[in-house]
Amino acid sequence: MGTKAAANSVAPGRPRRPSSAAPPAIEVRPVRRGDVDAVIDIDARVTGIEKRDYWRGLYRRYGEDPSAGRQFLVAEAGGEVLGFVIGEVRDWEFGSPPCGWVFGIDVRPDARQAGVGSKLLAAIVDGFRRAGVGKVRTILSREKSLVLSFFRSQGMMAGPFIPLEVDLDG
Ligand SMILES: CC(C)(COP(=O)(O)OP(=O)(O)OC[C@H]1O[C@@H](n2cnc3c(N)ncnc32)[C@H](O)[C@@H]1OP(=O)(O)O)[C@@H](O)C(=O)NCCC(=O)NCCS
Repeated sequence: MGTKAAANSVAPGRPRRPSSAAPPAIEVRPVRRGDVDAVIDIDARVTGIEKRDYWRGLYRRYGEDPSAGRQFLVAEAGGEVLGFVIGEVRDWEFGSPPCGWVFGIDVRPDARQAGVGSKLLAAIVDGFRRAGVGKVRTILSREKSLVLSFFRSQGMMAGPFIPLEVDLDG
């Protein structure tokens, strides 16, 4: 304790020199065309599949004409894209009143556990609130315990819907 206090003390009259530079502030903002390659790269690192056409298509549909109901947001710090979130308000899908759906969220592996995911989710939820909905939903794979822990930490819980599927022949 004493050593740390001494190391942090500043001699009178001398400019204070921080021991390490403050990390750049994280800004969450709508995606721009110039961010799309970084989004493709983050998704490819997380999923192992590079999907250029998919993300360019999503940029055209969600990024070029953003609204509170249709959002594609990135978290940026020091000029680098750290993560993204995408989602939209869907009306009466599955018989449910209009609600916000989060389709995807990814944070660069080296930027995790520093609040970036929480900031992204808070920003998209704010947008959904502005769009007038009172509920947010998402769907995730059962194996993704990390993503489940994250959404649970943000207050999301199991909802009233059951996903069903069938394999189609040939
Ligand atoms: C899930 C994810 C978005 C979280 O991003 P993040 O920036 O690390 O999240 P935060 O730092 O805001 O963490 C918020 C909370 O999530 C939970 N959490 C985050 N990482 C966790 C981990 N490794 N283990 C357990 N809980 C974790 C914690 O409760 C944490 O709160 P705490 O820091 O107070 O403990 C990120 O890990 C990710 O991109 N994972 C891959 C996502 C993916 O597979 N996407 C494709 C399908 S959508």
